Amino acid sequence: NTDMETVTRPPIITVLGHVDHGKTTLVDRIRSSNVAAGEAGGITQHIAAYQVEHNGQKLTFVDTPGHAAFGEMRARGANVTDIIVLVVAADDGVMPQTVECISHAKAAGVPIVVAMNKCDLPGINEQRILTELSQHGVLPSEWGGDVEVIRVSALQGTGIDNLLETLLLTAELADLRSPVNAPADGVCLEAFRDEGRGPIAWGIVRQGTLKVGDLALCGPAYGRIRAMYTDKGVEIQSAGPSTPVKIAGLNEVPGAGDHLFVMTDIDEAREIAEQRRVR
Ligand code: GTP
Ligand code: NA
Ligand code: MG
Repeated sequence: NTDMETVTRPPIITVLGHVDHGKTTLVDRIRSSNVAAGEAGGITQHIAAYQVEHNGQKLTFVDTPGHAAFGEMRARGANVTDIIVLVVAADDGVMPQTVECISHAKAAGVPIVVAMNKCDLPGINEQRILTELSQHGVLPSEWGGDVEVIRVSALQGTGIDNLLETLLLTAELADLRSPVNAPADGVCLEAFRDEGRGPIAWGIVRQGTLKVGDLALCGPAYGRIRAMYTDKGVEIQSAGPSTPVKIAGLNEVPGAGDHLFVMTDIDEAREIAEQRRVR
């Protein structure tokens, strides 16, 4: 039965951790980018998805804000993920939002990989960090537990290959698959109105392949997908499972966290979208 046929899909990896522990710098380093430098006050206020390739294998990263005020975005990130990278700054240790992120990971039932960051700083006490993690139910593999703790410096780029290898291995063990012939579904992480292009939804395809021309329903919004772009702004015609994608063509700005479904009947899509708008 070809409907049951599945393919391996890239892991969706959400980066969580306390404010300023280095999540964006880490994702920047992995992407060879520099988002952190442009952030107002150096504080991430949005959730953002990016795809990278390492040794020919794709990985999708979701960066989240660590500031206490953005708990809902961390929860949203934890809900779309296959693996959580918990960033813990080695000079600061386990802090309130670190503990909150551990709870999200446990609730989502997904594996955690710890990135012990800022290991370039002098006077780091690694044992202290391992102890604090253990006290919160994250038992390092070097102490007989099941969580890999990778020493990194996002700033200097050390330990990054090791982290990526560990993530790819974790993904392999999780055996992440997507059906080939199922209609696409996804989730909207952020949405906004673009001056020229109208409503834009930035999200991730979860299953199947999303194509330009597909009829999409996303929260209170619906419409035929007019154009799609990668996280780098490159226009694409289709997006497979685990791909971050920006979508134009919805009639409204959907809500962050809204699920996206491909529909066949435009009257049905309009009706459901309108019902959701009334509520
Ligand atoms: P929020 O998204 O606002 O929670 O912060 P974040 O976790 O994304 O941290 P961010 O990447 O903004 O980095 C915070 C500060 O830590 C910046 O000044 C970075 O330059 C610094 N930093 C990040 N990684 C490292 C590192 O490996 N070593 C050192 N020494 N500093 C780092
Ligand atoms: Na920051
Ligand atoms: Mg950040």
